[in-house]
Amino acid sequence: MLELNAVESGYGETQVLHGLTLEAQTGRVLAILGRNGAGKSTTLKTIMGLLPLKSGQIAFDGKPIAGRPFDIAKSGIAYVPETRDIFPSLTVRENLEIAAKRFGSNGADWTMERVVDLFPRLGERMDNGGTQLSGGEQQMLAIARALLMNPRLLILDEPTEGLAPIIVKLIHDKLQELKEAGLSMILVEQNFGFATSLADDVVVVGKGQIVWTGSSDDIRADDTVQHTWLGV
Ligand SMILES: Nc1ncnc2c1ncn2[C@@H]1O[C@H](COP(=O)(O)OP(=O)(O)OP(=O)(O)O)[C@@H](O)[C@H]1O
Ligand SMILES: [Mg+2]
Repeated sequence: MLELNAVESGYGETQVLHGLTLEAQTGRVLAILGRNGAGKSTTLKTIMGLLPLKSGQIAFDGKPIAGRPFDIAKSGIAYVPETRDIFPSLTVRENLEIAAKRFGSNGADWTMERVVDLFPRLGERMDNGGTQLSGGEQQMLAIARALLMNPRLLILDEPTEGLAPIIVKLIHDKLQELKEAGLSMILVEQNFGFATSLADDVVVVGKGQIVWTGSSDDIRADDTVQHTWLGV
């Protein structure tokens, strides 16, 4: 579904990804794991066109990915950044409506009603401003907004960061529901248990390259890779 081949990218003069190659498959969840600073977020930003591809190829459904972030989103990839990036001065409803308006034409699968069914809490908070939301509610809103773009591939950067265990469990169950409904996902996570219980496939990034590839079961059984590359 999404293929990165020998990708090099970074920030200005600073190169972070050094020939990174990976593949995310249709209908599956791929976890990208790795220590702080390994290049996980940089990988996602490069996929989304937020950082320039210096060398290598990125293909979505076999075709080179569109260059600009808006076009990449339009092609069916939704991205929930680490920073969540909801509009603080807008209400929950307005945050959702923006996504629905800009991307609703991608297909009518996801509607306001359906995202509120998934996250009833958002239904209760519709008229609250972005700044009045808890961290968990912000993450639900960020995911709901991404779903309203009717993506074929959902990309999440550390969705559990800073959240209480009970909210982590809720987000886990909702992502599991989406997976069972057939949505393809790429998940970057520091929470090893969370990631490996959701993912089918796992890649580990170390210093801007893939240093390990396998299944969730494989990595759970591999103390050496956990110790060497994740510090678990
Ligand atoms: N805006 C930036 N400008 C310059 N360098 C950056 C920038 N953002 C990240 N870097 C550097 O790029 C490297 C990879 O960072 P990246 O954010 O991709 O790591 P990560 O694997 O997502 O880590 P974390 O688990 O901490 O989120 C790090 O050395 C980091 O310092
Ligand atoms: Mg990161």
